[in-house]
Amino acid sequence: MQNEYTIWLRQDAHTRGYEVLRNAQSQRIAKNLGLEQPAHRAKVCLDCHSHNPAHSRRGERFDQTDGVNCEACHGPAEQWIKTHLEPEPSHQKNIDNGLYPTNQPYALAKLCLSCHQGDPTRPITHQIMGAGHPRLSIELETFLALQPPHYVIDDDWRDRKGSFDSSKIWVMGQFVASENLLDLIADPNRNSQGIMPEFMIFNCHACHTTMSQQNWEYGMANTPGQPRINDSNLLMVGAIIRAITPDDFIPYKTQLDALHIASTSPRATLSEVVVASQALRTQLIESRKKIAGTVFTRNHLKLILIELLGLASSNQYYDYTGAEQAFMSISSIANSLSVRGEKIASEINPGLNRILVLLKNEDQYDRQAFQNELQLLNQLAGATRHE
Ligand code: HEC
Ligand code: HEC
Ligand code: HEC
Ligand code: HEC
Repeated sequence: MQNEYTIWLRQDAHTRGYEVLRNAQSQRIAKNLGLEQPAHRAKVCLDCHSHNPAHSRRGERFDQTDGVNCEACHGPAEQWIKTHLEPEPSHQKNIDNGLYPTNQPYALAKLCLSCHQGDPTRPITHQIMGAGHPRLSIELETFLALQPPHYVIDDDWRDRKGSFDSSKIWVMGQFVASENLLDLIADPNRNSQGIMPEFMIFNCHACHTTMSQQNWEYGMANTPGQPRINDSNLLMVGAIIRAITPDDFIPYKTQLDALHIASTSPRATLSEVVVASQALRTQLIESRKKIAGTVFTRNHLKLILIELLGLASSNQYYDYTGAEQAFMSISSIANSLSVRGEKIASEINPGLNRILVLLKNEDQYDRQAFQNELQLLNQLAGATRHE
């Protein structure tokens, strides 16, 4: 459209990525971490807050102060720019020359989540959070909708690039986030910090609550007094599997329960947790491959919505991160349904607005109120209760 640069420059938060590394908050984070360099020179910060290739790979016009620029998402243009400018450009030729396949939901999820969740190429630790970094939280489809679009998904786009299904993007975001977490749990270079496991594995609010809250209930963890694995995305994946590949649900749930039991048992060892995590990951990837090849029908989406709402009746949204993920997911699936001509979105919108208010303050998450609202929505959606 030739206005991609203007849209990015004027409206896109990614242009601020580098600039924020110079502000007072970043200076404090760098100081608390004892970094040798200021934040805007430190690799650990630049890897996520800008395009940060090796110095030997930088061209004459490379400018790191751009922040998260075109090449940070679309890949280094050195090779693909040539085929991109041909009179009859082909998407496949561009991809063969190193253009990143942002049109493919799984690849898109890997890209966005590498910075918005952290992965082996862009690691982030509780130490960085402890130094004052904001908690990272993303639901891919919601964030993609929030990023001011510099492209139009029309017939021309589909002719060149294939189908576009926003619910597939939501699904792949959930799978990749879950796989990233399980990778972190199983990675001996990242899964511990001194004598402790790496706290990024757990729900932040499992530890960060006030002592007077007396929060523990059966169903939350195998035993009281243990931090809980951050299962917010794993819950969403369970709902997806149950709706789309129901035969995989029992094996998936069995492995997930095994991970929770291994990680909260008072006699647990980290190696047992690693084994449980790897088994769950294998199961998850098998289902993801089947689901990637499935064309979603309206009925699939309705089933997913009912599953997501139904999890409330068995106290599955015990932590804020799970509730936050559920809220964004339910909104996203309801939108996909309304695009397909279902009335459901307008019916549940008033409830979603009340839920948004309930989730405003993460330090005062009221699990009962949240789950009650979801159960009301569940009745509206005409769903049967989750067992
Ligand atoms: C894994 C990638 C990652 C790493 C590593 C990382 N950040 Fe961030 N940071 C982000 C993302 C993504 C956001 C935006 C979060 C959001 O708005 O959802 C962010 C937000 C911030 C913010 C708040 C920005 C604002 O606009 O309010 C500051 C400040 C910040 N980071 C500083 C740092 C510093 C300093 C470092 C290095 C010690 C660092 N970050 C390392 C990904 C990262
Ligand atoms: C945060 C990631 C991100 C950044 C930064 C980014 N893009 Fe994109 N871009 C996307 C996504 C996602 C799409 C939509 C999927 C697709 O078409 O592959 C897209 C699509 C496009 C398209 C394809 C439109 C079509 O019809 O095929 C062009 C051209 C483009 N971007 C150019 C740019 C330029 C130029 C910049 C820098 C000024 C830029 N992008 C920065 C993520 C990004
Ligand atoms: C190279 C790392 C990187 C990649 C890749 C990346 N982001 Fe970001 N994103 C950031 C950082 C850093 C910020 C915070 C900028 C700031 O300080 O406001 C951000 C901010 C955002 C925001 C604004 C959030 C807010 O709280 O206002 C959205 C939305 C967003 N990104 C969506 C996406 C999507 C969708 C993709 C994939 C197409 C993506 N990002 C890929 C690093 C990245
Ligand atoms: C297993 C328990 C545990 C988990 C899980 C945990 N934290 Fe922490 N957190 C701590 C401890 C212990 C401290 C250090 C408190 C102190 O210095 O007084 C801390 C400190 C912090 C601080 C600095 C607070 C201060 O007083 O300076 C922030 C911010 C923070 N954590 C964010 C997070 C985020 C975000 C997550 C989730 C990704 C998380 N924490 C998960 C135990 C945890």
